[in-house]
Amino acid sequence: MGIIEKYRKYLPVTDDTPVISLEEGNTPLIKADPIAEKIGEGYNVWLKYEGLNPTGSFKDRGMTMAVSKALEEGSRAIACASTGNTSASAAAYAVRAGMKCVVVIPEGNIAFGKLAQALIHGARVVPIKGNFDDALDIVKELTEKYPVTLVNSLNPFRIEGQKSGAFEICDRLGKAPDYHALPVGNAGNITAYWKGYTEYRDDGKIDTLPKMLGFQAAGACPIVTGKRVEKPETLATAIRIGNPASWKQAEKARDSSEGLIDMVTDDEIVGAYKFLASKVGVFAEPASAASVAGIFKKANEGYFPVPAPGQGKKDIVCVLTGHGLKDPDRAIKCIENPKLLMPILKRLSELREYDPGKRSDEVYSSCARRYGGPAA
Ligand SMILES: Cc1ncc(COP(=O)(O)O)c(C=O)c1O
Repeated sequence: MGIIEKYRKYLPVTDDTPVISLEEGNTPLIKADPIAEKIGEGYNVWLKYEGLNPTGSFKDRGMTMAVSKALEEGSRAIACASTGNTSASAAAYAVRAGMKCVVVIPEGNIAFGKLAQALIHGARVVPIKGNFDDALDIVKELTEKYPVTLVNSLNPFRIEGQKSGAFEICDRLGKAPDYHALPVGNAGNITAYWKGYTEYRDDGKIDTLPKMLGFQAAGACPIVTGKRVEKPETLATAIRIGNPASWKQAEKARDSSEGLIDMVTDDEIVGAYKFLASKVGVFAEPASAASVAGIFKKANEGYFPVPAPGQGKKDIVCVLTGHGLKDPDRAIKCIENPKLLMPILKRLSELREYDPGKRSDEVYSSCARRYGGPAA
């Protein structure tokens, strides 16, 4: 069941709304003890692994709503500017709805996996010389002049769909977490999560609200400095944004929740990215790791107090917004190149032929002895 069917009561849909769904949502909330150990005593850390949505990112939650409503309103085409994930999602949902899709992307600055998705789903991909903010200006103009629906997070239905992530977290924990950490780019997601939590509180589903902890990349942190960034730079291309469309709403989420919006360096992002993959077993794209890098940073600064005796453990949820496979190049760049084992492997197969009954570890050890490889 997709998020529209599951949370219909909280969404602006009627019986006449055609539901365009790829069964998005229902993503796992994974307990991450290796992260909790680094935060300090008295904390649980949970990862909302949004990379397991149908197109590999949280964008699908908003896209099912935006495309369903566009179709209901009679639109035959959608368009977006994108750092990659929105275009991948828009392209897939457009196929589902039988609509055309145009995506404008900053040339050379979107991860390969995301570009592949938009292309294979048949979207019209328009690369521009410029950054995401320039691409968004172009798409806004396009959708004002032509009968094409804008499906960036400026489209209010995107925010409506994305708030379902907050509902799922509360349904799973039986309450709101104490802290909710997430990467911030165009700031649609922090806006959406805060809306979701407050609506659940107003409906009596939860009693408390989390502190919202948003993290921007140091080279693209306009909300942190209060100044638009003309040339945003970060390896986390998904959050390489200098003038967030939902800037004001993000500040509201920060201030109403008594949370914060801070920045993390690319080194901190890569550190968290590698930690997630190698210590937790979860592969998320670099931008996603900003949430974990952020809580590591705040823990080092002593931000998380030890809970008072009898208070029980506090819960921190980090949203991992996109799958690691979206950006395989980054993974390869971050690791040591594997040693070339071909000469040994060739002889391994020869040995196997000679003695097929041998276990592979025995074969490896004898090869290593003969040819000077490392011990098994
Ligand atoms: C993987 C990933 N993380 C985070 C973000 C930032 O989300 P928002 O623009 O809603 O702040 C994006 C946006 O494209 C994204 O693709």
